[in-house]
Amino acid sequence: MSYNISITQVEQSKVNELDFNNIPLGTTFTDHMFICEYADGQWGEPRIQPLELIPTHPAAMALHYGQAIFEGMKATVDAEGNPMLFRADKNAARMNFSADRMGMPNFPEDLFVEGLKQLVALEQSWIPPQEGSALYLRPFMYADEPFIGMRAANNYKFIIMASPAGPFFTKRIKLYAETKFIRAAAGGTGEAKAAGNYAAAIRPTEIAKSKGYDQVLWLDAVEHKYIQEVGTMNIFFKIDGKFITPERDGAILDGITRMSVIDLLRHKGFEVTERPITIDEIREASQKGILEEAFGTGTAVGIAYIQEIGIDNETIHVSDESPVGLDVNNTLNAIKTGKIEDPFNWMTKIESKLV
Ligand SMILES: Cc1ncc(COP(=O)(O)O)c(C=O)c1O
Repeated sequence: MSYNISITQVEQSKVNELDFNNIPLGTTFTDHMFICEYADGQWGEPRIQPLELIPTHPAAMALHYGQAIFEGMKATVDAEGNPMLFRADKNAARMNFSADRMGMPNFPEDLFVEGLKQLVALEQSWIPPQEGSALYLRPFMYADEPFIGMRAANNYKFIIMASPAGPFFTKRIKLYAETKFIRAAAGGTGEAKAAGNYAAAIRPTEIAKSKGYDQVLWLDAVEHKYIQEVGTMNIFFKIDGKFITPERDGAILDGITRMSVIDLLRHKGFEVTERPITIDEIREASQKGILEEAFGTGTAVGIAYIQEIGIDNETIHVSDESPVGLDVNNTLNAIKTGKIEDPFNWMTKIESKLV
């Protein structure tokens, strides 16, 4: 379907105020946003307009009952400065998976991608060109009907914001395997990108940080034994030459970096198995000296190399180097910046003249 997205531009862009060599994390937003409202059972006119405050009724249902979901993805530029998107169709599909779980309306997936393309085309001067930098894109949807009562809302806003992000320095991270708090159980909302999942993770993450760790390693809700995922990343282990990653069990997020890394590792000739993995198996592999690598995968960081895992008062040492993880990260970055051929057709080039 073709959509008519109306565009109202700012009079004066703020892009010149940004120091591209020193981008503050998560606090700088581009000039415009994409917005579309849902009412009377349908989505209204999509538009791109100056980013501005949105008046909110104190009874807006998202604030009380938590119907709020989001996505996260990045636009990059190739050597000629042409903007590109990485697997945007997968984010569109996951947004609707989350919407279904949370009783929210689906957003047309082709309009999701078209909105992203037009917003990125308009904001392309905001895309940091440095290696590892990108324009972070945040599509989200929330219930804004003013109503006190427990039911699905009738009114929603779908918005896409954009925020330039500098390179993440890939220091090796330390994880704390959590045996008291849980993130998600199958049948809950863990497989959806629901705002409430992140709210519930904040306190345990603060506690892990106060103990000197970088992130929480989430274990299953019943036995605190099976490994799920990490903060905002999925997790991979290399044991005795082969890769394993927790299978999708209805509780972990179906990460787009995860699915891409599985493809890349197989493409590079590695065996990758998705299956249940216990923390005991990881401890044993470490003791035997066959735990060769562990890394997290996610849009924000790409690949984060894991140095050690703390559990109760014990430390499981992983490794001091991650040669395969590093190689996969380099390949991913090279695909995202058009430096090497894109064998999987993951990238969508954006026509600068779209707007
Ligand atoms: C809980 C969680 N797990 C995993 C991921 C990684 O997913 P992706 O690779 O799509 O960014 C994210 C980030 O979106 C996340 O929030």
